[in-house]
Amino acid sequence: MVTTGSAQTALSFTDAAFADQIREALDAVEARLLKAVDTDQPLLRQSGSHLINAGGKRFRPMLTLACSHFGDPNSTGLIDASTALELTHLATLYHDDVMDEAELRRGAPSANARWDNSVAILTGDYLFSQAAQIMAELGTEAVRVQAATFARLVRGQINETMPRPEGIDAVEWHLEILSEKTGSLIATCAKFGAWFSGADEATVATAEEFGEIIGVAFQIADDIIDVVSDTSGKTPGTDLVEGVPTLPVLYALAGTDPADARLRELVAGPVSDADLPEALELLRASRALDEAKATLRQYQERARGLAASLPAGPARQALIDICEFMVDRDA
Ligand code: IPE
Ligand code: IPE
Ligand code: MG
Ligand code: MG
Repeated sequence: MVTTGSAQTALSFTDAAFADQIREALDAVEARLLKAVDTDQPLLRQSGSHLINAGGKRFRPMLTLACSHFGDPNSTGLIDASTALELTHLATLYHDDVMDEAELRRGAPSANARWDNSVAILTGDYLFSQAAQIMAELGTEAVRVQAATFARLVRGQINETMPRPEGIDAVEWHLEILSEKTGSLIATCAKFGAWFSGADEATVATAEEFGEIIGVAFQIADDIIDVVSDTSGKTPGTDLVEGVPTLPVLYALAGTDPADARLRELVAGPVSDADLPEALELLRASRALDEAKATLRQYQERARGLAASLPAGPARQALIDICEFMVDRDA
């Protein structure tokens, strides 16, 4: 079993020997992450290590390492690629907490709360620079893919802040945003694992596709967790207060049941701190939440289908285990 960070419902791998290998490789990633923020600039050193030390699930490097078992998991570059991808993710968390005015991250004060927005933004930039430096050692193609991935991620993040273009269905537009902001990086994590391990081209492509779909599932689960979980290490209801559209809210707004009129009124815009307890209570009991869970299960099934088409072995089993974890996770 791999206990992933502070997650309450841990991801467990069926194959115990495989889990041990992943855990060992993740230890190497951990050391490499800390090395990346080992700078002589005291504030960057402190602010950069802040969220690394606070915890986190390390889902992305874990996925890279799992997919490396489609080829030779001892190939060079895998620990570096896993580290660079977690650093990229970490950079986006520093920036995302500024955008969301979040105060809690990984059970610790967010960098913007602990210091201020400028420190949080610059620390994110610094982490991204470290990721880029590691990628550069991995070759031009790795740099190109990382840049394209990051462009998609940023596009998703910015589209989420903008009004939906006319003539596009709200849910369809939202799911496209989730692909961009979250599926993009998780797809690249899976791709790099398969690719750097020397797996064949078809396996690399399917692993990437799997990452994209499980990445959307990951974000839907995260959006459900924002509503239902008190143990995520983040402040529940942050999306509601910030007026960030999520699937449960979109389904609530699309509903017509008169019994949900109060819920629709509450979530039509950013929810005030005073209204938050009521909005959370209504949303937790709503049909909209069940609908969001049903969509999560659809993505889980799609990802499972992709995993099943990959070469048999411990890596394929691990991806199937990840699909199971995705609907149960609570952090
Ligand atoms: C949070 O990612 C941001 C999302 C894309 C949902 P994680 O849930 O992987 O955060 P950590 O790394 O475990 O803190
Ligand atoms: C952020 O999504 C996704 C990225 C960082 C790209 P969220 O805003 O849902 O992430 P959390 O919930 O703050 O971790
Ligand atoms: Mg956020
Ligand atoms: Mg969230």
